[in-house]
Amino acid sequence: MAKLTFLSHSAWLIETNQYKIIIDPFLEGNPQAKMKPADIKADFIIVTHAHGDHLGDAIPMAKASNALIIANNEIANYCIAKGVNAHNMHIGGTREFPFGKIKLTPAWHGSSFPDGSYGGMPTGCLVMIEGKTIYHTGDTGLFMDMQLIGEMNPVDVFLVSIGDNFTMGVDDAVKAVEFVKPKLTIPMHYNTFDVIKADANDFKNKVNAKGYKVELVGIGESYQL
Ligand code: NI
Ligand code: MN
Repeated sequence: MAKLTFLSHSAWLIETNQYKIIIDPFLEGNPQAKMKPADIKADFIIVTHAHGDHLGDAIPMAKASNALIIANNEIANYCIAKGVNAHNMHIGGTREFPFGKIKLTPAWHGSSFPDGSYGGMPTGCLVMIEGKTIYHTGDTGLFMDMQLIGEMNPVDVFLVSIGDNFTMGVDDAVKAVEFVKPKLTIPMHYNTFDVIKADANDFKNKVNAKGYKVELVGIGESYQL
């Protein structure tokens, strides 16, 4: 059974008996993160887009543990140029890795690196692992094709941004749940900074009222898939 741990913001650790997979490892400089990059020896690092709060510590962490970075073509090439291993994919593509499959999904957002260089199109991702499907939205506004993503890939756990300003806020994220129809939803990308303050209980109540389940996973807490 895989374990999903919330590292804060959009950073998640997925652990199986054999592998540690991190999504968007923004730890250093993150006012909410309890773990440091050195605390986690990742095997795979998924980066949804190039913004500093998602690329985060991916490159130093990949160097430290010889992890493979999985990202869109532009981010993967940038990481390879920095001397780490990366696998290039792009939106709509699925690829099998030793732990399971990754499919990159669209996201309505930007994706420049902290140094200003171009990071390609931003993405979300589907992680298919040990018979479960996790959909991490990345940073995105609401889009109706989420309905198609949920219809074609039944989602067990939906990790959805609710912090507003840069991404969906609470009400748009509630609509995203209705589009994706996941078995369980966990909100993320809120309260890290003042500008993305959101009321997770308000989100939970509104999603519950639509007949869907929400789990509020605190920073450092885990959820067994
Ligand atoms: Ni972003
Ligand atoms: Mn972000």
